[in-house]
Amino acid sequence: MYKKKFKVILVGLGNIGMMYDLKSKKKNNFFTHSKSIKFSKDFVLKAGVEISSSKRKLFEKIFKLPVFKNLNSALDKIDANLVIIATNENNHVKLLKRISGCKKIKYIILEKPGGRNFKELKYMFRISEKNNIRLFLNYFRMYDEYYSKEIKNLFSKKNIDVVANYKRGIRNNCSHIINFLLMLNTPKSQKDIKFSFFKKHSEEKKKVLNVSWNKSKAIFINPDIKKFSFVKIQVFSNLNYILSNNDFSEFDLYKKKKSVMLSGNSEFKFLKTLKNKNKDKYQKFFYDRFKENVKNYKFYKKNSLFTSYIIDRMSLIN
Ligand SMILES: NC(=O)c1ccc[n+]([C@@H]2O[C@H](COP(=O)([O-])OP(=O)(O)OC[C@H]3O[C@@H](n4cnc5c(N)ncnc54)[C@H](O)[C@@H]3O)[C@@H](O)[C@H]2O)c1
Repeated sequence: MYKKKFKVILVGLGNIGMMYDLKSKKKNNFFTHSKSIKFSKDFVLKAGVEISSSKRKLFEKIFKLPVFKNLNSALDKIDANLVIIATNENNHVKLLKRISGCKKIKYIILEKPGGRNFKELKYMFRISEKNNIRLFLNYFRMYDEYYSKEIKNLFSKKNIDVVANYKRGIRNNCSHIINFLLMLNTPKSQKDIKFSFFKKHSEEKKKVLNVSWNKSKAIFINPDIKKFSFVKIQVFSNLNYILSNNDFSEFDLYKKKKSVMLSGNSEFKFLKTLKNKNKDKYQKFFYDRFKENVKNYKFYKKNSLFTSYIIDRMSLIN
């Protein structure tokens, strides 16, 4: 295991880089990379990089650390071994190429979905590995035992059916659901993943997308409900049923029981809410677990690539 502290340059001081936590009034929320690293024992924030001068000023004021307009200057001047890329997907490849040419950098944490498409993400893994850099995508649920153990174990080796509602885009939000589902049951190859779609009404533009692989069958719906904010998913097996809350941070668990009324039939009964104690600290939790999780690099890489492949195909159909 890596024994020293990770020394970090953070590129992109927007929402996920810095702003979400400044907008939030809750002290115990950790939604951004900068705040999470500041309070994480294994990491030390060394510098920021940001093209916007107002955000650079804000960062300097809050963190009292060097901040650069340009990544090259930061890489030259700062003693760092890990870079976080928290910019928009359009410039991920360009930034990653520059970082991978810098010998001292051993780790990159890249914001999801990782580049503009599957081809770009594959390319980024390839050049990172060529330069002995491990690249991790920030699908934070993948690294969190609440999802990767507690929820996963409910459906181990089972056939599952999934109904997933998402808003604000396939690449933006639906990618989180896909990444989570791939963790429950990982395909062996891309060829195992099948796609189809239907329309709820013939005149409707929106399509309901079906994606299946191995033991998983999922339908993805983009509903026309304004107040519905994020994502909501339901997963069924022959024994268990889970229903997420609206931001997909916690689940209610239902167990199958034989119905007294209709013998032979069965129904699900509410058992309990599976409490997620880290739900307000998810980004910090990612960093707290990172040292331990580094060893699962290959699994994270596989899941991130499958996620990217699926969202590309879904976007094409849509
Ligand atoms: N993991 C998650 O849950 C999660 C949540 C929100 C956003 N994201 C992802 O994070 C990424 C950024 O999203 P956001 O909402 O924070 O966007 P944003 O626009 O708020 O922030 C991006 C920041 O990067 C800066 N920037 C752009 N190019 C730069 C460059 N070359 N050098 C330095 N800074 C540069 C911009 O000025 C901006 O401040 C996206 O890929 C998005 O999908 C992930």
